[in-house]
Amino acid sequence: MTALADEVAAVEADGLGRVAAARSVAELRLVEQELVGGKRSALALLNSRLGQLDVEERKEAGRSINAARSRVQAAVADRAEKLAAGERAARIEAERLDLTEVIERRHATRGHRHLVTQARDELEDLFVAMGYEVAEGPEVETDWYNFEALNMPPAHPARSMWDTLYVRLGAAESTLLRTHTSPVQIRVMQSQPPPIYIVAPGRCYRRDTPDARHLPVFHQIEGLVVDRGITFGDLAGTIEAFTSAYFGPNIHSRLRPSFFPFTEPSAEFEVSCIFCEGRGCRVCSQSGWIELGGCGMVDPNVFAAAGIDPEEYSGFAFGFGIDRCAMMRHDIDDIRHFIANDIRFLEQF
Ligand code: PHE
Repeated sequence: MTALADEVAAVEADGLGRVAAARSVAELRLVEQELVGGKRSALALLNSRLGQLDVEERKEAGRSINAARSRVQAAVADRAEKLAAGERAARIEAERLDLTEVIERRHATRGHRHLVTQARDELEDLFVAMGYEVAEGPEVETDWYNFEALNMPPAHPARSMWDTLYVRLGAAESTLLRTHTSPVQIRVMQSQPPPIYIVAPGRCYRRDTPDARHLPVFHQIEGLVVDRGITFGDLAGTIEAFTSAYFGPNIHSRLRPSFFPFTEPSAEFEVSCIFCEGRGCRVCSQSGWIELGGCGMVDPNVFAAAGIDPEEYSGFAFGFGIDRCAMMRHDIDDIRHFIANDIRFLEQF
């Protein structure tokens, strides 16, 4: 036997011992790497010395290196299988749940209302304190309530402001998931004579792709006032009262001309950015203001659809996002947190 063959035998014997001693798959892979892994492994280094031998010796030593490599690899494979099975069994045992176990807790944790529900309740309370009543309407609506009675005849271009989800019920496109809470205006006006002071919170649905500011299911709160002598000034004052009551005395509102088919004139209302209090920052794109909703004086055509005499009464309506209110007040940067059901998020509020 050559000196090289002796060394091969020694490396193999030592290697097999280490393979047998490896206590985890990870450890085994390290041993494997050192023995037969790559150019710098023990057997590869011996192999690289073959060139120093004469032909006959080289053949014999080459064969013994190959045989040693096969035996080491077989031992590694065998050991790997055993270790993996053991690790799997240990993991299963560790992750086992005893479903009959009774966990005793000194202080039982109780759930609480979701942040969006809290915001809705708080907004309701604010308006109730101003003399409003809370109204509700169905989430599955007819085209007539969601669009037509709100001064949007079939195929009216303004309908494209709302990407609508239709329900397969009745004639095509006659039934839908309400795209806003405004149809509740019509239902309330049909069910009671003025004076009307109501807010109507609830879920709305739009065919939107979820992102940080949009979800296909979201929440609005609608306001409707119908009485004698109601003016745009009443609308502006109401918005301002609600804004500082909900966001704090340093936060104010402003109206900007806009368009909605069901109000005339119409406005978008903005509140001073609660992050910079109006000085200008990244969130409000340096404008100092953040848009919250739409509003305006009830259009005479809407009164006509609901059977109210526009000569005798006037009124205003507004609608804005409850989710967005909660996000602004609690500095939440992504609306999708609300539906992720991550207890670490929910527990904070
Ligand atoms: N319904 C409108 C929207 O969802 C908001 C709005 C409500 C505008 C009431 C004016 C009056 O965009």
